[in-house]
Amino acid sequence: MKTIVVNGPCRLQGEVTVSGAKNAAVAILPATLLVNGKCHLENVPNISDIRAYIQILESLGSKIEYITDNELIIDNSNIKTTKAPYDLTSKFRASYYLLGALLGRFGTAQISLPGGCNIGARPIDQHIRAFEALGSNVIVKHGNVYANSKGLKAAPIFFDVVTVGATINAILAATLAEGVTVIENCAKEPHVVDVANFLNSVGAKIKGAGTDVIRVTGVKALKQTSSYAVIPDQIEAGTFMVAAAATRGDVLIKNCIPRHLEPITAKLTQSGAIVEEFEDSIRVSMDSRPSPVNIKTLPYPGFPTDMQPQFATYLALSTGSSMIVENIWESRFQYTAELIKMGAKISYHDRTAMITGVSELYGSPVTSLDLRAGAAMIIAGLMANGYTEIQDIKHIERGYENIVEKFKQLGADISYSESEE
Ligand code: EPZ
Repeated sequence: MKTIVVNGPCRLQGEVTVSGAKNAAVAILPATLLVNGKCHLENVPNISDIRAYIQILESLGSKIEYITDNELIIDNSNIKTTKAPYDLTSKFRASYYLLGALLGRFGTAQISLPGGCNIGARPIDQHIRAFEALGSNVIVKHGNVYANSKGLKAAPIFFDVVTVGATINAILAATLAEGVTVIENCAKEPHVVDVANFLNSVGAKIKGAGTDVIRVTGVKALKQTSSYAVIPDQIEAGTFMVAAAATRGDVLIKNCIPRHLEPITAKLTQSGAIVEEFEDSIRVSMDSRPSPVNIKTLPYPGFPTDMQPQFATYLALSTGSSMIVENIWESRFQYTAELIKMGAKISYHDRTAMITGVSELYGSPVTSLDLRAGAAMIIAGLMANGYTEIQDIKHIERGYENIVEKFKQLGADISYSESEE
């Protein structure tokens, strides 16, 4: 069993460089399927979700050439099947992008119902409705999703909820469809914009990404790309920002886009941290316990749900009571039980958590219940007195590249530990 052991407390200090965005890369990799040729991608994070995606693409017939750990060429000129293997696609959520991409280029796709972090019900009804609007027949049966069409045609799409996945999937399916597809009530997350930018770089005609109305003018075919660099990871940057403040440290976070981090900057500032923004880096410093702040998670540009566990952990040592309302996922407070083991005072009911700041956390064995909860456990370990051993770290490795090395570089006493069980 591999675990992460943190010996706290620790004051983080120095510089760290953020990797490419997981949630952009897991959409851009399948988006390359729309190109009958080669795509050259840079700043792709070397994380297990990406390695899993590469395996899926290879099983379909993609040829992948790694130039470095973060740069690759994907050749999709010889796709042999549009049926993705059940055991690979059922493991993670982003496999749903195969539907939009394969359907868009080949008119047929089959994947398992997507899995992913256990943070609440994760329906795909909005994805299916978008495909159906564009003229596809979609059947969900025996744990699989089957989509077929005799040629997609543009249609108006209006989402009932703001959804990142369905917005990107509708763009993927509409890129090669005949006519102009107008998609309304779209998600505005940076990774939605990045996928549209990538597709436009290979000849797609997508306008409005980053606003709530996106117009996709179908083109007949896409062309090969010279090179496209994935944006920096907003949530990894936010995780280091919060970790810096939580350890009363001083950290320069490089390769990030400060505009994407504004909701986190606003809440950190409100809690007493000093945040300085530069062109492509951000510095966070803090020298006291945080003041309590209230947070509501919302679609971008609101406070991201994917930063909620890390921020709640930071507030565990605040000087008062904070309230967090989780509006996106229905069960994203399960990790609070782990923080309580470490001495935190947190209670929650339904989608609202109350955090009463304490003066000390103590190290304890804890479990990483999902990706962001796992990052929160590392921050808690850095804040606590004594040893914190984090189990189930496979969740953390899904989305953070070299996280142990990066924290070590900032002065943390953190390492992997391996035992028989
Ligand atoms: C993406 O998930 C991210 N994953 C999640 O990040 C992130 O938490 C989420 O967006 C919100 O920002 C990837 O990009 C791979 P949604 P996604 O569709 O696309 C409801 C992480 O830690 N909904 O925007 O699956 C849904 O139940 C992960 O990196 C429907 O009702 O999320 C939720 O309440 C965890 N029907 C809301 O919309 C649908 O068909 C937003 O979900 C689709 C979604």
